[in-house]
Amino acid sequence: MKIISTVAELRAQPRPKGKRRVLVPTMGALHAGHLALIRLARKNAGAQGEVALSIFVNPLQFEPGADFSRYPRPALADEELCRKEGVDLIFRPAPGEMYFENRSTFVEETALSEPLCGASRPGHFRGVCTVVTKLFHLLTPDAAVFGEKDFQQLAIMRRMVRDLDFPVEIVAGPTVREPDGLALSSRNQYLSAEERAQAPIIRQALLEAAQSDETSARKMAAAVREKIESASLARIDYVEIVGTDDLRSRLTIEPDSLLAVAIFFGQTRLIDNILLR
Ligand code: PAF
Repeated sequence: MKIISTVAELRAQPRPKGKRRVLVPTMGALHAGHLALIRLARKNAGAQGEVALSIFVNPLQFEPGADFSRYPRPALADEELCRKEGVDLIFRPAPGEMYFENRSTFVEETALSEPLCGASRPGHFRGVCTVVTKLFHLLTPDAAVFGEKDFQQLAIMRRMVRDLDFPVEIVAGPTVREPDGLALSSRNQYLSAEERAQAPIIRQALLEAAQSDETSARKMAAAVREKIESASLARIDYVEIVGTDDLRSRLTIEPDSLLAVAIFFGQTRLIDNILLR
């Protein structure tokens, strides 16, 4: 497994011709959810192909006051997991390697980025689009794998490669969960024992909604809110029912509606979603 930390080094090692390269972009602190994405990448790349994984805690996608400095960075544990999973290449640049101090060029998607997490985290998706564009240019993957837990990010990546003609296939990886339903996230480790014990209420509320016969989006969202608020430590950022195509609010539950939520437990913001019908 090669570990590359500078752009110069990456450029000095051109990709072997005819080998499919599949990228798993991450911010590190790898968990079983990432390992599932790596396995999907391997399947997509084939035994002869190359799985590349980037680890970069991207300052551009953290809004002021967010958890950029305390974001976990367990470099050795990440390396070990990648080695075990048969990753071929880790690209792990320092922030100074990725961004000039006087950078003034950004990539911005302007429709799907507006609602949901885009409304609560201004600039977040501009940071994601900018860094993923750079990773695509630097690593020139044939495909890139993104998790369905960040459904909005996945939709934006699909839109970005379509709009900007990136020759990169976007592959979606299903959400991986703890046995009690909590979606895996590097941020779960911030939760106190009491918060962790209450956090599965998110999945329970989503499942109850998806299994109900409710057709009014307003009533369904109200029921989800009520259920989540029954956990004393939960604070709702948003509960929204949107179309999977445009991520805009729906009045009624139709095929391809998505129930998406962001919930704070203390300072920790957790997201999850479920497809309806
Ligand atoms: O999902 C993430 O971990 C990040 O948003 C990504 C795609 C690696 C970009 O920094």
